[in-house]
Amino acid sequence: MNPDREKTVGMALEGVRVLDFTHVQSGPACTQFLAWFGADVIKVERPGTGDITRGQLRDIADVDSLYFTMLNHNKRSITLDTKNPAGKTVLEELVQCCDVLVENFAPGVLERMGLTWERLQALNPRLIAASIKGFGPGPYEHAKVYENVAQCAGGSASTTGFDDGPPVVTGAQIGDSGSGLHLALGIVAALHQRTSTGRGQKVTVAMQDSVLNLCRVKLRDQQRLAHGPLEEYPQYPNGVFGSSVPRAGNASGGGQPGAILRCENWETDPNAYVYFIAQAPVWDRICAVINREEWIAHPDYATPEARLPRLGSIFDTIEQWTMTRSKFEVMDVLNAYDIPGGPILSMEELAAEPSLRATGTIVEVEHPARGRHLSVGNPIKLSDSPTVVVASPLLGEHTEQILRDVLHFDRDRIAEVRSSGALGRAAELPPGPLHAASSSVETRSSSRRVR
Ligand SMILES: CC(C)(COP(=O)(O)OP(=O)(O)OC[C@H]1O[C@@H](n2cnc3c(N)ncnc32)[C@H](O)[C@@H]1OP(=O)(O)O)[C@@H](O)C(=O)NCCC(=O)NCCS
Repeated sequence: MNPDREKTVGMALEGVRVLDFTHVQSGPACTQFLAWFGADVIKVERPGTGDITRGQLRDIADVDSLYFTMLNHNKRSITLDTKNPAGKTVLEELVQCCDVLVENFAPGVLERMGLTWERLQALNPRLIAASIKGFGPGPYEHAKVYENVAQCAGGSASTTGFDDGPPVVTGAQIGDSGSGLHLALGIVAALHQRTSTGRGQKVTVAMQDSVLNLCRVKLRDQQRLAHGPLEEYPQYPNGVFGSSVPRAGNASGGGQPGAILRCENWETDPNAYVYFIAQAPVWDRICAVINREEWIAHPDYATPEARLPRLGSIFDTIEQWTMTRSKFEVMDVLNAYDIPGGPILSMEELAAEPSLRATGTIVEVEHPARGRHLSVGNPIKLSDSPTVVVASPLLGEHTEQILRDVLHFDRDRIAEVRSSGALGRAAELPPGPLHAASSSVETRSSSRRVR
């Protein structure tokens, strides 16, 4: 048995080998999911630089950035210059022994490498060739695309923000990581279909499409608009509705009115807020909590329809109550009364949240060069395939291992490819962590090295 496979025995994607030809965020987010589920993910990188994010937004000189380390857990790295003829031959040999190729280059890049769909099929008819592009076929199909472009082109920006302000992009990376998630699902579906057809297939995801899919409720509202104003939007009843879905501020999109309300210390703490949902089934409890029992039966407040035109003043009144407590005290009361709501949590609070550490959604990972760092672990929990998060690979860390154990090259063949210049310089492991992070929270990391 290949020793590299031993540590994924029993995991959901055990035995699946992925040629990871991805970079930046969207593609790496996809292959990280596959690796978390136990696939053997081989990241092919350009010698010298590797994935461009290794050097972007560095917090420690000469150490792989957090951008890279947090998106490339549980993978192996091989450096290969695919524009070098010997490197291209190695790439094609890897295609022949992988189940899935994942890439997110600009349109046309893979074809310029000679890896057309026809060529890939000739090399390996069982190969699933998965790609992320910015746009599908249409006016922008040749465009290079980054996160915020996708958010703007997919309907998110036009529907995010306040009515009197410009379009706003969100902090959640719905274009990049959202597309990666969509692609991962497509790959798993194609792997399943292959068990009966024996054939691979193309899996393509456009970032615009992924964002639009996540904005599905806004396309719903676009159609509702033809039949009258959107009554749960803050523009109702006094504002003006145009011909397209307006920005709804922080109003709840689910038909249950909601708002972000200030809590105690909001003047100094930028996150002293709570999201409060005035859910109809618990209206009487909300009235009791805020000391407005007279609203329970009052005709202006008793029904959701009666409340709609008064939501602004209703939330103002509720806010008078939330401002007397911290957001966590507000939550204690809401939970006790089964009233839906949530605290506005800062990244600082999330990083320290014990329950997220306990479930492995926030993990501490040991990296040979940077030491211990925080990362988001696998948010998808499989009871039979638990995820152990392992540090991202150093550039080219597994080059020789992959040539030897995956492609079965002997010493002479490895020396031959190396002397061609296709592999770049041999990777050197750093002497040890340059900066060890300290934490009082229990560590949930794994020892160096994947598989
Ligand atoms: C993200 C993006 C804008 C980056 O653009 P970019 O930095 O200019 O990179 P490209 O994808 O255009 O191309 C990379 C080049 O590196 C080359 N390259 C990549 N890996 C290589 C390797 N191992 N060896 C040699 N060359 C390599 C490619 O062949 C290509 O060269 P070419 O243009 O001469 O054919 C672009 O890749 C893109 O639009 N991707 C699709 C959408 C996407 O995923 N965007 C989100 C990213 S988070």
